[in-house]
Parts: sequence; C-alpha cells; structure tokens
Amino acid sequence: MGTLIKNGTIVTAENEFKGDVYMAKGKIIAIGARLGNRPDDEVIDATGKYVLPGGVDQHVHFSFTYNGSKVRGFETSNAAAVGGTTTLIEFVNQEKGKGLIETLEAYKASDADGIAMVDYGFHSVMTDPRDEVIEEIPKLAEAGYPTMKLFMAYKGMFFHADDDAILKALRKGKEAGITIMVHAENADMIDVLTKQLIAEGKTEPYYHAVSRPPVVEAEATRRAIYLAELAGAPLYVVHVTCREALEEIKQAYNRGQAVFGETCAHYLVLDTEDLARPNFEGAKYVCSPALRTAEHRQALWQAVDRKWLNAISSDHCGFDFAEQKHMGFGEGKSFADIPNGAPSLQNRLNILWTYGVCEGKLSRSRLVDLFSTMPAKINGLDTKGHIDVGYDADIVVFDPEYRGVMSAKTNLEGVDYSPFEGFEQKGRPETVFLRGMKIVDNGNYVGQKGQGKFVPGKPFGAAYEG
Ligand code: URP
Ligand code: ZN
Ligand code: ZN
Ligand code: ZN
Repeated sequence: MGTLIKNGTIVTAENEFKGDVYMAKGKIIAIGARLGNRPDDEVIDATGKYVLPGGVDQHVHFSFTYNGSKVRGFETSNAAAVGGTTTLIEFVNQEKGKGLIETLEAYKASDADGIAMVDYGFHSVMTDPRDEVIEEIPKLAEAGYPTMKLFMAYKGMFFHADDDAILKALRKGKEAGITIMVHAENADMIDVLTKQLIAEGKTEPYYHAVSRPPVVEAEATRRAIYLAELAGAPLYVVHVTCREALEEIKQAYNRGQAVFGETCAHYLVLDTEDLARPNFEGAKYVCSPALRTAEHRQALWQAVDRKWLNAISSDHCGFDFAEQKHMGFGEGKSFADIPNGAPSLQNRLNILWTYGVCEGKLSRSRLVDLFSTMPAKINGLDTKGHIDVGYDADIVVFDPEYRGVMSAKTNLEGVDYSPFEGFEQKGRPETVFLRGMKIVDNGNYVGQKGQGKFVPGKPFGAAYEG
C-alpha cells in the first residue's frame, strides 16, 4: 500500500510547482501531474497546502549535561515530528577516558535506538584530545558519523577545547572527510567578564549577555576560520548570532574558504531584553551565545536569505525552569550557574514560516533549503532533505491557513516552559510522513516509540564538493 498526496504545491530548495507525490515502501516513487493510485492506497488531498521535505535539525541536545543536570532526551523526539522535522542530529560529548566511537555507540544503544520517534544521526564532540583519540577521528567516517564538534567556549568544563585540539582535529578530519564544527566563543574573555560581573554583584540572568558580547563570538569565529585555513580543511560554525561573526564568515567565503554556518530560530526572533524579564524569568532565555539586539537579528535574516548562512537549526536543550534553570537562583548563585540552552525542538518551522515567509524575509524555497536540504547535504544524508524520486518519503503537508499560539502547555517537548510562549503561529505541519509512515495527522502525533532509525552520514556531504 502506498500514499498519494494530490494537488499540493511541492516546494524544493530550487522551485515550487503544483503536482502529486506518490510514495511506497518508504521512498518517493513518482512526482507528476494527475498521478493515478491503486485501490488500497491512501489518498490525501493537499489542495491549498504546501508539500515540503521533512526537516533536518542538525543541532539538538538530548544528552547535554550542565553542572551535572541533564536535558530531556529522545523520549521527547515526537515534538520534532509535530514540528515537521523528521531527522535529528544529536551532539554526543566524548566521555573522558573513552573513545569517540565507543561513546557514541554506547549512547546510541542506550538512549536512542528503540526510543527515537524520528530518524537520527550523531555528531561526535571531542573532549579528550589524547593522541589515540586524534588518530581515531578518520574512523568516524566509516562508522557513519562524518562530523565532529569542539567547544571553544565553556572554560573549566570538561568539554572545552583549546586551539591545539581544534587544529589537530581539522587536520586529521580532512584526511577522512570529517567536517569539523565549532561553538565559537572566546572562553577566556567570558571567564574574565563573568568573574568581574559577579564581584560587582551583577548576578541576574541579564548579565549572561553582558558576559559574552558579540566581540567574544567574533574573535573565536575568526580564530577558527584561520585554524581551518592553516589546516586546509572546511569548517562549520554552529549557532552564529551576530553581525561581527557574520562578517568574519563572509570574508572567509569571499577568500574562497569552505566555511559554513548556521543560525538558530531563537536568535531570529528573541532579544537580549528577554533576559531582563522579572522574577528570574530571564533564566529561560540563557543560552550561548547570548540573545542579541534587533540590529543583529536584521543581519541574520539577511544572511540566511542571501546564503551567507546555510542552515537554521534549533539548538534544542530541554532544561526545565522550575528546577534546572533555578540552579542559578538564590544566595551565592549567579547567571553562570544557569544551565545554558532553551527548548525549541517543535517550533523551528513554525517560527521560520510565521516570522520569515509570512513577513517577506524568506521565500518558501529558501526556507526549505535552510530547514532541510542544506542540513542534509552538510551531514552527508543523501536520502534526506529533498522531494524527488528515490529520496526517503519524509514529507510535510503544511496548511498555511491554520492559526494558533505557541505554548509549552500544548507542545510535546516535555519542558515546563517555551521561549516562544504566546507567539502567534501562522500555518502548521498538518500531516507528516517519516519514510512513508504517517506520524502526524491533523497536527497530532500518531506514531510509535522507536520508529526512528539511525541514518549514517557520508563523509564531506555534497555541500562541500559543490
Ligand atoms: O546554550 C546552549 N546553546 N546550550 C547548549 C550547548 C551549546 O552550547 O550548544
Ligand atoms: Zn582554553
Ligand atoms: Zn554551542
Ligand atoms: Zn548547542
């Protein structure tokens, strides 16, 4: 039995056109006008709707631990499905004393396999750059993990990486087509500013932003770009948030360097002022890099539209407000004790559609490229991120007429708050298919625990070769 989606407007990263999509056995089998169907096929009338490739969110945290406190895991991955995302890529911090692949495979077996409700892959995060770990990097490629991140920020935490580790990773990664990613913020600058602010009694959540101004991000971005130039390797900069860092990426791009970057939905719509909300509510908005002001948001919207940035991820981090964010509350505590990150798994497409497409900042095709097509390419997922014959039947039927309000009360993230609480929502993923299986129907999750499959990535995705 297959499924025929009729009369929709199919949107790809290149164009959009009216037509039908036929899928069977998990794959897209045919695209065309007035396609026929067999008697036992399901037929969905998508008149007035858009047919988009399922999203690829290459920046999520289901295993992140901050000061000993851990985020919600893959048991909440149905929130991605309801938000139109059908593939997630999770960052797994290497455990000290263990190998990169050893850590990934243990986490995969215990926390993802049999639990995930959308397809998934992993980025390794190198935390322990011993010689034998550097030597292991090329093996990530054969194992289906073609990306590895290093944290330039978070001084004093076990996952912080210095320049020698980054340079070694870039050189070794290049040998096997492993793309090196960086969280680019200067950890020492943050450390000095943080200590100074705390000594001055400036401990509220708002000072999180003051402790890491744009120059902190710009310096590390520039440094990572030069390290990549020295290594002759491509570089991927995660969560770019400010004009100054964008400028560094643009200049590298103009020099012909293979530098890719993403931003995240919250940096496009939230503001530094959110950190100043009363009653410790600002803690809900503590993420790194910090939220910025309107001038930076404007630069980011322009950058995603003009392809200076290649992807928009969520950087989803399911820490709750009642307990976990309150680790930074009270006597002797400060913004530096607040776990970094915000829950945003479900609303990536809703934000991009409502505040990007509906406000004329992004075309629908550009949205598809940023939401799905480029993240698939960057991660070497060659059956994901596009609607064409032979691709996985990961499809979103999107209803542009729906009107709603975003809220933690109705989303599936399993966290007691949403940074987008009360945000107007125009349109929604009405029906979502994962490899041809209907997992969202009329906006409701209808899938099964464990239906997600591990998808191995190929070294240096098509993005770099092109
Ligand atoms: O604040 C954030 N982004 N938390 C998650 C970890 C990271 O730095 O990406
Ligand atoms: Zn350091
Ligand atoms: Zn980060
Ligand atoms: Zn992150």
